[in-house]
Amino acid sequence: MQKFAILKAQKTTKSRNIVIAIDGPAASGKSTTARLVARKLGYLHLDTGAMYRAMTLRMLWEGIRLDREDEVARVARETDIALVRGNDENRVFLQGKDVTEEIRSPEVTQHVSTVSSYPAVRAVLVEQQRKLAENGGVVLEGRDIGTVVLPKADLKIFMVADVAERARRRKEDLRRSGVEMGEEEVVREIMERDRKDSSRQTSPLRRAEDALELDTSNLSIEEQVEFIVQAARDILRKKS
Ligand code: DC
Repeated sequence: MQKFAILKAQKTTKSRNIVIAIDGPAASGKSTTARLVARKLGYLHLDTGAMYRAMTLRMLWEGIRLDREDEVARVARETDIALVRGNDENRVFLQGKDVTEEIRSPEVTQHVSTVSSYPAVRAVLVEQQRKLAENGGVVLEGRDIGTVVLPKADLKIFMVADVAERARRRKEDLRRSGVEMGEEEVVREIMERDRKDSSRQTSPLRRAEDALELDTSNLSIEEQVEFIVQAARDILRKKS
């Protein structure tokens, strides 16, 4: 049985809560931005990439051959992932174990595009994502939120940044978690993941037609957050 019971859909008046979808390529700054936007608006933050990462870690734990789609799909249906609201950011639990840091390892990063390319894996996770968003008051971030998971989201943002800037940010994140990687290797990893995420058959990464594009190459986190919060407040004003 799948269980995402811990983060629950918001139970507040629908008209005062909108759904915000943030999509974009690897290391475009989605997670930090989405977390801060959610905090400012008092919304739930849902990092869907963390779900795909946890699913990938389960496959690695179980020693599943990742080219065996049927095996990956079978294990995916029996995987228990829970997102738990923490003080600053959500914690990710896999089969009851806190894996918040482990899902960011280079090994998981290397394999997550393969696991997330399988339709059966996506079906399991998309269902949970839609459930969590059903009452609004949520900021979801990923690759296919505005196009597939919630095509009727009230506000869609497509975040982009040039690859050098994304590599710099990713290197910094890795260093903070104790992993040193060379510049070239980080650029290669990001470009490879972009290629796989954009070219897969099911729900490839692409900008929804009605998404606002936000190029963060030269923006500070505060400016990115402000842009989205303002856009959200405009929509809320029009709704009320
Ligand atoms: O955002 P991230 O780098 O943590 O995401 C990890 C991977 O998960 C990414 O390479 C592609 C996949 N992903 C996806 O396919 N769909 C999503 N909605 C979110 C992430």
